[in-house]
Amino acid sequence: MNATDIDLGIGFGHGKVILIGEHSVVYDQPALAAGLRAGIRARATRGDGRLRVPAWGLEAKRGDGSPAGLALDRLLDALDLRDLDFDLQADIPSRCGLGSSAAMAVAVARAAVAATGRNNADVSAAVAQAETVFHKSPSGIDSAAAMHGGLGAFSKQQGWRPIALRQPLKILIGLTGTPHDTGAQVAAVARLCARAPVARRLVETLGEVALAAIDAVGVGDIDSLGRLFDIAHGLLAGLRVSSPALDAMVHGARAAGAIGAKLTGAGGGGAVIALAPSHAADVLARWRADGFDGFETHVGAAQNA
Ligand code: MEV
Repeated sequence: MNATDIDLGIGFGHGKVILIGEHSVVYDQPALAAGLRAGIRARATRGDGRLRVPAWGLEAKRGDGSPAGLALDRLLDALDLRDLDFDLQADIPSRCGLGSSAAMAVAVARAAVAATGRNNADVSAAVAQAETVFHKSPSGIDSAAAMHGGLGAFSKQQGWRPIALRQPLKILIGLTGTPHDTGAQVAAVARLCARAPVARRLVETLGEVALAAIDAVGVGDIDSLGRLFDIAHGLLAGLRVSSPALDAMVHGARAAGAIGAKLTGAGGGGAVIALAPSHAADVLARWRADGFDGFETHVGAAQNA
């Protein structure tokens, strides 16, 4: 080990799952989301602005012209820091709807701050700078979930409000295996709303569905939450952010006994979520039989926070 290998700081960012409210949250509607226990751990050492994520085959350097290099540049500029390298251990896949870019930015910013003892640094402002590279004008929901973990209600005006659950909520996450481009999906919804103003009503209805979901989860009404997942998927499909694979996974989950299923994140690929309290193994088996991966996790538990 040489001097540059010595750990200077460690930081963690949670992966995220949006339960209800993707896309509509961009238009100031409320949303319900959670930080996952899985996420990204960053180790900061002395260096010259390199970023390595072996699990994704990603290597970037400040100023190399790549999106990750640009995001790192903006993040370190915002923190007014230099002379650090970052090695990242990722246990979520990239560009699949689970908030990989926000988790990466939060982990790197926290490691940088830990390395330099700059405890008064504005981590969320630095993360927001990095996120503009991947998401153009993000609502901030991914970064908030990546920072806080646990379950929360989020809106652009009010930020993240934690929701305490008596019992953790078990959800299934299914992966299409097709990466997506969040910025492109958000831009497509904006174009649709401009061409067909009635689409804005779908966005507003998604906000109402999110409010109902926040109420349902607060009283542990999982059946209602499942129905709201189904309604939200229909509205998101109306906004044209679903895909044949996402629809197949949603329908497969329902056929295998899920009480509700929907796409999660920006759509166009990426991931779905399902609630299947009595049929989790059946849903996972159905997804596997159809060629998709999936896993069970729980959100809102104390250890997520
Ligand atoms: C992406 O995880 C969520 C979107 O609503 C975009 C955003 O909120 O910035 C699609």
